[in-house]
Amino acid sequence: MNFAKKIAYRSFHLMSKLAYVILKFPEPILVSGEDSLEKLCDLIKKEDLQQILIVTDATIFELGLVDKILELLTDRGIEYSVYSGVVSNPTIENIKEGYQVYQENQCDGILAVGGGSSIDCAKVVGGRVATPNKTVLELKGNFKIKGQLPPFYAVPTTAGTGSEATIGAVITNSDTHEKFSVNSPKIAPRVAALAPELMTSLPPHITAYTGLDALTHAIEGYINVNGIRLTDESAIKSVRMILENLEKAYSNGTDLKVRENMSLAAFYAGMVLTRATPGYVHAIAHSLGGRYNLPHGLAVAVILPYVLEEFGESIHDSISQLAVECGLASKQEPKNLLYRRFIQRIKRLNDHLNIPNKITAIQEQDIEDIAIDAIHEANPTYCVPKLLDKADIVKIIHRLI
Ligand SMILES: NC(=O)c1ccc[n+]([C@@H]2O[C@H](COP(=O)([O-])OP(=O)(O)OC[C@H]3O[C@@H](n4cnc5c(N)ncnc54)[C@H](O)[C@@H]3O)[C@@H](O)[C@H]2O)c1
Ligand SMILES: [Fe+2]
Repeated sequence: MNFAKKIAYRSFHLMSKLAYVILKFPEPILVSGEDSLEKLCDLIKKEDLQQILIVTDATIFELGLVDKILELLTDRGIEYSVYSGVVSNPTIENIKEGYQVYQENQCDGILAVGGGSSIDCAKVVGGRVATPNKTVLELKGNFKIKGQLPPFYAVPTTAGTGSEATIGAVITNSDTHEKFSVNSPKIAPRVAALAPELMTSLPPHITAYTGLDALTHAIEGYINVNGIRLTDESAIKSVRMILENLEKAYSNGTDLKVRENMSLAAFYAGMVLTRATPGYVHAIAHSLGGRYNLPHGLAVAVILPYVLEEFGESIHDSISQLAVECGLASKQEPKNLLYRRFIQRIKRLNDHLNIPNKITAIQEQDIEDIAIDAIHEANPTYCVPKLLDKADIVKIIHRLI
């Protein structure tokens, strides 16, 4: 990459760091522990809401994961309407349907119960309520939501995306297959309630994929150049908790303490992601995911060690600090050794969770386009520790196959 481009990108990163500091993103009230759903419904009651829209997906609804919440709302005299049509990678149609249920039932609040898909759908339904004169597509991009969202609450049932802590939502246009983001501080949930008992039904492979997605959010955010104290501290907590708990959650999904730790870790990683941005791991994963229909968490997990290796010396400082903070090493040891040990730990974690170390779906003839899309997504938006160009990404993809 030429010098002028590097200067331009780094100036952009500096500006975005300043903007994030000045903008002061909203932080949801975090409710966790065994009686978190009771506490959440008490908070909803305090808002004096009459009719709340529950946004969820059919699997979660049929598993009965919403039942206790409905009971608690009824006990408090709060009526509800349910929209349970969210699909994985929620679509514009999902938003339209959810918005219609909201309007038909004259709802005055929104509660998402589900993974990132349900939470993102609920966020943009809220965005439509706040900005009724704009279509979903017109809300694409940054800061397009003008009015105030109705009170909005989130109960995640996966420990991964951290959407319950972020100001973004990812929506799919099913006509063009394009995934696009709606970003606005207004769509951050007012309250995020973490209820580990809702996560015991998560199958091991989804536990692994979503947990590794959270790990990647925390690591990419930590090594990025625009981190602030809040993101650094959140990232350390998150990585430490994931390294201590994800293998346990994978092999024994019913351990509530482990599930709670994973849901906290994903929340903290969401705080990091929304402020410090993702990096090339996510850019490559998005480019591959759209082409070959790979689960996002699986893709980022496979790619992560390769990108950390490509960054080399540029992340010796940050990764060695992270290794020390996570108890993997002592700070007296040489940084390059700590860096290598940290990557080894990530590779071992992937092995334990049955994550392959190659992506065999990649077709040779697609590599150039995959790299172009990844570069287009990442440069300059993501505040990466080392700027890579197309040739570097092509090299990484060759190693991936
Ligand atoms: N808004 C953000 O900040 C953000 C960040 C990253 C990713 N995302 C988006 O989030 C979406 C992915 O979210 P996700 O990974 O949480 O998956 P998801 O919400 O799509 O759920 C994955 C599957 O797991 C099932 N499931 C969820 N919870 C369950 C439970 N407790 N028990 C049994 N099954 C359960 C769902 O029914 C679904 O079939 C994508 O659309 C992605 O683009 C958003
Ligand atoms: Fe992710």
